[in-house]
Formats: sequence, structure tokens, C-alpha cells
Amino acid sequence: MGYSRWKVVAAVVFALVCSLSPVDADEHDHTYTDKEEVVLWMNTVGPYHNRQETYKYFSLPFCAGSQKTISHYHETLGEALQGVELEFSGLQIKFKEEVMQSTYCEIELDKAKRDAFVYAIKNHYWYQMYIDDLPIWGIVGEADENGEEHYLWTYKKLEIGFNGNRIVDVNLTSEGKVRLVPNTRIPMSYSVKWKKSDVKFEDRFDKYLDPSFFQHRDRDLGDEYGWKQVHGDVFRPSSHPLIFSSLIGSGCQIFSVSLIVIIVAMVEDLYTERGSMLSTAIFVYAATSPVNGYFGGSLYAKQGGRRWIKQMFIGAFMIPAMVCGTAFFINFIAIYYHASRAIPFGTMVAVCCICFFVILPLNLVGTILGRNLSGQPNFPCRVNAVPRPIPEKKWFMEPAVIVCLGGILPFGSIFIEMYFIFTSFWAYKIYYVYGFMMLVLVILCIVTVCVTIVCTYFLLNAEDYRWQWTSFLSAASTAVYVYMYSFYYYFFKTKMYGLFQTSFYFGYMAVFSTALGIMCGAVGYMGTSAFVRKIYTNVKID
Ligand SMILES: *[C@@H]1O[C@H](CO)[C@@H](O)[C@H](O)[C@H]1NC(C)=O
Repeated sequence: MGYSRWKVVAAVVFALVCSLSPVDADEHDHTYTDKEEVVLWMNTVGPYHNRQETYKYFSLPFCAGSQKTISHYHETLGEALQGVELEFSGLQIKFKEEVMQSTYCEIELDKAKRDAFVYAIKNHYWYQMYIDDLPIWGIVGEADENGEEHYLWTYKKLEIGFNGNRIVDVNLTSEGKVRLVPNTRIPMSYSVKWKKSDVKFEDRFDKYLDPSFFQHRDRDLGDEYGWKQVHGDVFRPSSHPLIFSSLIGSGCQIFSVSLIVIIVAMVEDLYTERGSMLSTAIFVYAATSPVNGYFGGSLYAKQGGRRWIKQMFIGAFMIPAMVCGTAFFINFIAIYYHASRAIPFGTMVAVCCICFFVILPLNLVGTILGRNLSGQPNFPCRVNAVPRPIPEKKWFMEPAVIVCLGGILPFGSIFIEMYFIFTSFWAYKIYYVYGFMMLVLVILCIVTVCVTIVCTYFLLNAEDYRWQWTSFLSAASTAVYVYMYSFYYYFFKTKMYGLFQTSFYFGYMAVFSTALGIMCGAVGYMGTSAFVRKIYTNVKID
């Protein structure tokens, strides 16, 4: 732009001239006589969150006051080089002369101008002005809670503090919120109040050094970064709430089964009798069905789900169907091979009876209790009507990557124990250190919860609010590593061969890993949801 190059040249010349010749009054020596002109300069406008991105104030369709010229020239070399684009506001301000609220211009708002303002408001634009070298900041406008209506601040209330013949303090209050409706005229107004101040001229910049200054001025904007930005979306229901709550319910049930079976095994020496471990597990599983119903049902109700009977069926039969499906499949192979492991027909019938006549009714009881006792979505933050767009982020912040990384630490905390469990399973060594297994379970839960919370915190800070599935899956990915470990175990630690043994091994390993994954996922999700609740309870939203 030739014009601004010319301006720089002019500034250089002017600066040289200035440094040679003494200037007498106004901004240049910062002293004023009564009723002398005080210039309000408009500088830049730009998004609050990106201080480097600035535009000229008048690049937004603001209007200027009627006064066109000022009585002296103003520009320094430094400003020109820094890209400061001071433009005269056209407002009449005179030293120690009060101005009552008066309109200085009107914006004729057409569609294009409205869109420009709406864009600026959506991106939290703020503008900067100068009076006597003192910077002043103001917000362009404000959106309502749903982000549907946009309002412009139209009244600049200036309070200027003076000490003797010098200006030492300026405050701007934005008032006069006007809704942006196309084809209307928006009057812009200002007022000036002069106040005696005790601030010394040498100290007048001190208030900008105080870190609380910006927070104090723009508190509502200053809070809005990172995870706090998504307060209107974190409690939005997860995608596929029906499957999600069924998984969480089942995970809670598996967790309680593991806990109870390990305790019983520690107390009762279950290993002495062959098969008693499995019978105990089945019995405990059936007995803990209300846990499944309670957590699954209440979560589904909180997420606003309506097909709760369907959810209950899926929640109740997810694990039994998986276990029985695998067992029946392997059974067919066993029958074909005439192996000794074929499950008797009577057992299959018994399992089906347990599912329909014990697990289902108990699950129903739990679901009804859960829906009624804790089915209210009493979230600390309201959910906005319109979902916020999820911003672009670095690849390692993508949920898929977080999910893959999440399982590594929990797996690391249990893989030695996995070796002993696999050995007791496949090498028919008797496992008897249940106290140790208990300890491992506790450690696994603690590590899982911690890792999931950290993962979720990163995700929310990237302003991605899809934390429910991410927290579940990042904990559940532990199971993928366990399953991979089982391949290593198969090839290096066992001497199994043939279709039957292979499908038997990998089939039951898949069941074991899936159950472990669902359990870890539910534990991770429960911990994280408590964490998310906690941090958003303390967020102040105005
Ligand atoms: C500006 O605001 C600060 C903080 O509220 C106050 O202490 C100061 O007196 C104000 N100055 C003027 C000139 O109103």
C-alpha cells in the first residue's frame, strides 16, 4: 500500500524533526490547559484469544464522530514500525470538560455490516484505543447464551482521572447493549467524566502492570480458554447412549464380581475343589445383576434415553451372550473333535434359565432403582442448545490416539500378574495368591482412573467435549494390550496346536480380555465423570 509507505516516510521525517525541535503542548509533553483538545485515538480490533491477530479499528463497520481534523499531528517512528494504526475517533473531548451521554454517529446496519459485527462478536473481538498514550480496551459486543442473538455495545462511558494539568488514569465502561437487526440504525454514544486523581504522572502505567488488571476488566472473557470453554457441552449426552450406558453398567457388574470372587477365594480357599471357582463366579454374577441395572439404568436416564427396557435387555445380556456365544461356538468344535471339553446339554439349559429367571428380574430391580434414585441429570452446568464446533487440534490430541495411549500404563501395571493368571489357566498350575491378585486389582483401578483423568483433561483442554467414550475407550484399550500379550504367551509359553486348541485358547482369551476391557472402561469412566463434575462445579458462568 503506497499510502502507508508514505506514512512511514512521513513518520520518519516527523520523528527527526520532533527530536530536534521542542514541542510545546498536548500529547507530546502530556500537559494540558483547561478545555484543551484531548484526542481519543482508535487503534486496533481483534480476537481476544489471539493478541497477535489485529485489524484496524475501522475495518469493522464502526462509525466515527463528526470532527474530522485535529489541531496537531501525531505519530512516532516506533508506532509506525510496530504497526500501530492510530486513527482519529472524531470524538470531541476537552480537558476537564464533562460530556453528558451524546450520540456521535449512527451505524446504518445492512446485512453485510451485521455479518461483520456478528463474526467479530462470535470471535470475542475487542478493540483498543488511546488517550494521551494510555491504552484503553473495550469489548465489541456480546452473544446471548445460545449464541443466536448478538448484541453490540454502543455507549462508551469514559472516566478520565487528572492530576493537576496531566491525565493519569482512564477507565472505559461499555454500556447500551443493542441487538443487531439488519436495516436498522444504531446510534453510537459516548460520555466523558473528569475526576481528580492522586495517581502520580510517573506512576500512571502501574495499573497495567498489575496482573489482575486484565482479569478485572474482562473477567468474563479471561476465563474462557481451554476446558472452561466447553462448559455448555461437557454434559451433553454421549453418542449412542444406549450402548454406552449398557457397557458402563456391565463394567460395574464385572468389577463387583471380580472383587467379590477374589475376596471369597481369599477366605474360602476355592482352589481346592475343581470347578468351584467357576460356579462361584456364575453365582456371584447372577447375584450382582442389580448393580448392572442400577448404573446402566441411571446413566441412561441421565442421558435422556427413553427406550429404557431395550437398554435393560442389552445391558443384562451383553456379557452372558458374549460368554455363552463363545462357549457354544467352541463347543461345536469340541463335539466335532470329540474332545473332553464339550459342555453337557444340561449345563446349557441351566445357563439359559439363570439368564432369564435370575439375571433379568434382578437387573430390572436395579434399573428401576437406578432410574428413580439417581436418574436426574443434575449436572453442574447447563447444556447449550447448539453444540459447539470442535476446533482443529494436533494429531496426538485426537481421541483415537489418546485411546491407544491410555491403555499402556494400566497394562504395564498388570502384565506380570497376567502371566500368572494365564499360567494357572492354561498350564494347570494352581493359583493361590489371591491376596496378591486383590492388590493388583486395586492398583489397576487406581492407575486406570489416574490415566483416564489425565487423558480427559488433555481432551477437554483441546476443547473437545467427547470425553465419555474417550475416557471409556482409553481405559478399555488396556484389554487390547492384554490380548496382544496373550498372542505372545500362546506362541512362546504354551505348546498348544490344532484348530480346537487354538480356537479354545483365543476364544476364551477374547472373552477374558473383553470383560477386562469393559471393567477397566467403566472404572475409568466412573472416576473421570466424578472428576469432570468436580471441576465444572467450580466454574463460574455468567
Ligand atoms: C478506574 O477504575 C479503578 C478501579 O475500579 C478505580 O480505582 C479508579 O479510581 C478509576 N478511575 C477513574 C478515573 O474513574
